[in-house]
Amino acid sequence: PVRPLIIAIDGPAAAGKGTLARRLATHLGLPYLDTGLLYRAVGRRVLDAGADPNDPAIAAAAARALVPGDLTRDDLRGPPADAAASAVATIPSVRAALLEFQRGFGRARGAVLDGRDIGTVVFPDATAKLFVTASPEARGRRRWLELQQRGVAAELAVVTAEVRARDAADAARATAPMKPAADAMLLDTTDLDPDGAFAAALQLLRPLLAPGN
Ligand code: CDP
Ligand code: CDP
Repeated sequence: PVRPLIIAIDGPAAAGKGTLARRLATHLGLPYLDTGLLYRAVGRRVLDAGADPNDPAIAAAAARALVPGDLTRDDLRGPPADAAASAVATIPSVRAALLEFQRGFGRARGAVLDGRDIGTVVFPDATAKLFVTASPEARGRRRWLELQQRGVAAELAVVTAEVRARDAADAARATAPMKPAADAMLLDTTDLDPDGAFAAALQLLRPLLAPGN
């Protein structure tokens, strides 16, 4: 059977992964999966139950109980959901419960997936892997602007500190830490807008997407 086309996009918070992944998926005619939504939805379920997102048994049960409607909730963004997602994401049984869903999604028709461990754990044999970064200052500002646009009052310094803290936790955890795969191509979007990042990504991907590859 022909191997499905898998584009893995990893990197820290607000690097521009989702924006880029969505555009690449449209361009290539592939389905797109924002894997962060899975962890956010698990964290949300635990918070709704009034429980601690660091509790392995409760978080794993929440992961196994996920239904598609959980991923379209409108309360998956913002500081409480960010922190809860990052907490449940450290729990091996939570990651194991979400792994098969991600693999099944990609295997069906190929896909662009973005997250932290797509190129290292979920699809180590992906067709192409991008690790998208930007300076912590640029990423903090992007998250802060998003909150402003949603009418959420927040201080730039606080938002930037939260982004840094979550990146540090995601990179330091024992299970599936955020890190570039050995064969990932790096894309720094600090000085790129979404159009610029898309053009740069296409440039990087071109050799791997060429016919015959
Ligand atoms: O998925 P990830 O958290 O990595 O980032 P995103 O949600 O794609 O982008 C975070 C914010 O930065 C969005 O509001 C984007 O419009 C913005 N952005 C940007 O300013 N420049 C880029 N090259 C990419 C995204
Ligand atoms: O949009 P942003 O980049 O801020 O975060 P996200 O991609 O929605 O991911 C939220 C959290 O889920 C991350 O901080 C990670 O702790 C976790 N996550 C993960 O561990 N593995 C993934 N493949 C995706 C997200």
